[in-house]
Order: sequence, then C-alpha cells, then structure tokens
Amino acid sequence: MAVRHLIDILELSTDEITELLDCADDIIAHPENYREKCRYKKLATLFFEPSTRTRLSFEAAMMELGGNVLGFSEAASSSSAKGESVSDTVAVVSGYADIIAMRHPKEGAPLVASMKSSVPIINAGDGGHNHPTQTLTDLLTIRREKGRLDNMTIGLCGDLKFGRTVHSLIAAMARYSGIKFVLISPEELKLPDYVRTDHIESKGIPYEETTSLESVMPELDILYMTRVQRERFFNEEDYLRLKDSYILTPDKIRNAKDDLSILHPLPRVNEISTAIDDDSRACYFRQAAYGKYIRMALILKLLKEAGSEL
Ligand code: NCD
Repeated sequence: MAVRHLIDILELSTDEITELLDCADDIIAHPENYREKCRYKKLATLFFEPSTRTRLSFEAAMMELGGNVLGFSEAASSSSAKGESVSDTVAVVSGYADIIAMRHPKEGAPLVASMKSSVPIINAGDGGHNHPTQTLTDLLTIRREKGRLDNMTIGLCGDLKFGRTVHSLIAAMARYSGIKFVLISPEELKLPDYVRTDHIESKGIPYEETTSLESVMPELDILYMTRVQRERFFNEEDYLRLKDSYILTPDKIRNAKDDLSILHPLPRVNEISTAIDDDSRACYFRQAAYGKYIRMALILKLLKEAGSEL
C-alpha cells in the first residue's frame, strides 16, 4: 500500500481540509476522547532548521494523543553533520517511528525524503517553499475567528518572497470563493511569479500588489503579517535595509475594520508592536495554540490512512 504523506497543502482536497478542521474543533471541545488514540505510536521530529512552535506543537500533539516522541532539533546533533543524506536518515528513522515531521532548509527535501520512507512524512517547512501544517493552523484560526473561509479580503504583508507560510496559505485560500488577495511588500520581497501565476492569476482571483499597508488597511478582513526571513537572504545589508519595512502599531490599525483578524505565524521580530497584543483583533497567540490541535487531527488522519487502528 502506498503511504500517504503531506508535502504540499494541495495534496489535501477541500473536503479533507474541512474534515481536519472539524476534527480539530472536536478535539478542542472534547480532548478527553483523544487521550489514548495513539498509545504505543511514535512521532519522530527531524528538524534540520530552528523551530519553536512547529516542533513543540507536533510533540505536544503526539503526547496529547497518548503517543511518544523522538527526534532532533538541529542538523548539528544528527548524523547529517557527518555527511549522511536526508534519504538515508529517513530510511533509517522510518524503522523507528510510525510518522515523521521534517523541517529542512532545502526546498524539496521532505519530498525526496518521502520517496524513501515507509511511514508518513509531514513537511514541517522546506526552505522558502511550503509549510502545509502552518497553513492548516492558519485555516483553523480563520475559520474559528470568522466562522467561514470564503468571501473575504486577505492582506499578506512583509516578506512574501521567502515566506513559505504565505505561499502555502495563498494556495489553500485560492480554492474558496469570494477571496481577494492584497499583497503588501517592498519591491524586493514581492510574491514569487510562480505563486502568483499558479494560484492567483490562473484562477482569475482578484488581487492587488502594493508597498503601502496604510492605504489598504480599511478593506482587509484578515491581515497576515510575516517576518523578514533573514536566513534566506544572500547578504546582511539587504536584510538590514528591509527588516523593518512594516511595523504594525495601534496607530496603523485605527482605520481598520472592527472585526479585522491579525494573524502572524510567529516568531515576530519587529513587525507587530507589543502594544497590539491586547487588542481583541490580535489572533496570533490563539493561532499558535490552534497549531497543536490541527496537528493532532493530521497525525490521526495519516496514521489511520497508513493502516493503524486508532
Ligand atoms: C514560520 C516558518 O518557520 O516558516 N514559523 C512557523 O512555523 N510558525 C515563519 C517564520 O519563521 O517566520
């Protein structure tokens, strides 16, 4: 039987996404029903790049399902430091664990790994490319905050070039009706052409590109702020010049909708002033919390599809 992985968010149909979000809602409402679901199951977290939320929420997710976790949190503490290939690492770890979450600085590494794995591989972020489980987290947040995933204007602001969470979120939201994207970034950090053409233009979805956050603020239902991805820059000077392009302060949301939802995958550096944190429109800490529940739902789905009786 072919094992089902999750490398790209579009591998999930919209019905499957709805089922995952429903499952996460049910876990939030009735956590006690899930405490034993993954007894004796093991999740391996193979993180070749730094992470706080993604790795810890995956681990907390498996623990709350009654399972166990193993893994590493930096390439330096794994055999990749000795020159082992990702494929070999995964071929070995798939003999130790039932499911693997993997983050890697190289685009496509989890896809390559999935070809050598006998257990499900979940892409937990590959370079500047994709981050499907952050997108599931974002979708759960939007649905819980707004009660819907369609008919809204979504502003994405900051590093749209290297921000993998932005690329996956656009691919996912483009499948719902009545969506408009507002792409807010400095010229140098605009959305890559392939994301714009494949997911927005090819579907005839309305969008606008701008460098000015203030001018579009009143029309937004969602504002998705992002960090400038320092680790993907070729030189420090460019990073220093661009890093504070957008800083959200209470002043800047004065003309925003009362029911604007402000999301951020976190970590934040300077993009959102801490003075915004107590505004009811700030959703980013709730968003981080939802990450655990949607990952519980995803682990259950992939293990079931791999033949586990849960
Ligand atoms: C994001 C990531 O790693 O891509 N963080 C996350 O997973 N919550 C965003 C970022 O690092 O800026």
